[in-house]
Amino acid sequence: MPDAVYVRDAFARIADRYVLTNHVLSCGADVWWRKSVSTRLRQWNPARVLDVASGTGDLALEIQRQCPDCEVTASDFCEEMLAHAARRGITKTLVADALHLPLLDSGFDAVTVAFGLRNMTDYPAALREMLRVLKPGGHLVILDFSLPHGLLRRPYRFYLHHVLPRLAGWLTGHRDTYEYLGGSIEAFPSGAAMIELLESCGFTEASATPLTGGVVSIYQGTRPQ
Ligand SMILES: C[S@@+](CC[C@H](N)C(=O)[O-])C[C@H]1O[C@@H](n2cnc3c(N)ncnc32)[C@H](O)[C@@H]1O
Repeated sequence: MPDAVYVRDAFARIADRYVLTNHVLSCGADVWWRKSVSTRLRQWNPARVLDVASGTGDLALEIQRQCPDCEVTASDFCEEMLAHAARRGITKTLVADALHLPLLDSGFDAVTVAFGLRNMTDYPAALREMLRVLKPGGHLVILDFSLPHGLLRRPYRFYLHHVLPRLAGWLTGHRDTYEYLGGSIEAFPSGAAMIELLESCGFTEASATPLTGGVVSIYQGTRPQ
């Protein structure tokens, strides 16, 4: 499991180049991945959404665009990342550790977390905290990296461990942060393992949908009534 201080400091160092680097490394696909999450959310017409580990606010902004009547709160434990979210138009920001959210129970219709859960020190504790702040019947949507199956798996691993850190190092000046990325993706539960984890934390209707050949997946769970 990742070290929280290392993670927070690493994101603070790359905050200024984070958005551009994401677009370059994913060839722009990250925009579409976040749109897919927001489109799911729109069907539930949520009044209040919490975007955990919101960082520079890319997903929170997309949710605001697709659900204009919804109140979106962006939370993150890295002030440097969240400052970008605020500058880009997110009005409700909250500096907080996802493992100890300073929020009342059952306050949100939906909770989202994009590329964040993988970086947390205790996945079950983080998921139970997200369950706690969801209203009964509310939905959790997770977007994160996974490993593709089949022919794409080997070349993707080569890209992840050898090409991506060099490219990102060149773009951000912090190659070590992106060397950590590959290991964190390898260790992160995906597919059936993530469904099992969600269910063990109290979510129902858990599902997994791979996108872009399995390079990322969207996971969903519901807080029981
Ligand atoms: C890869 S970024 C993702 C940012 C954004 N969600 C996106 O889609 O681009 C991961 C974010 O998770 C945050 N993070 C990691 N562990 C956290 C924790 N325990 N509590 C709050 N934020 C955390 C980091 O500070 C960072 O901003």
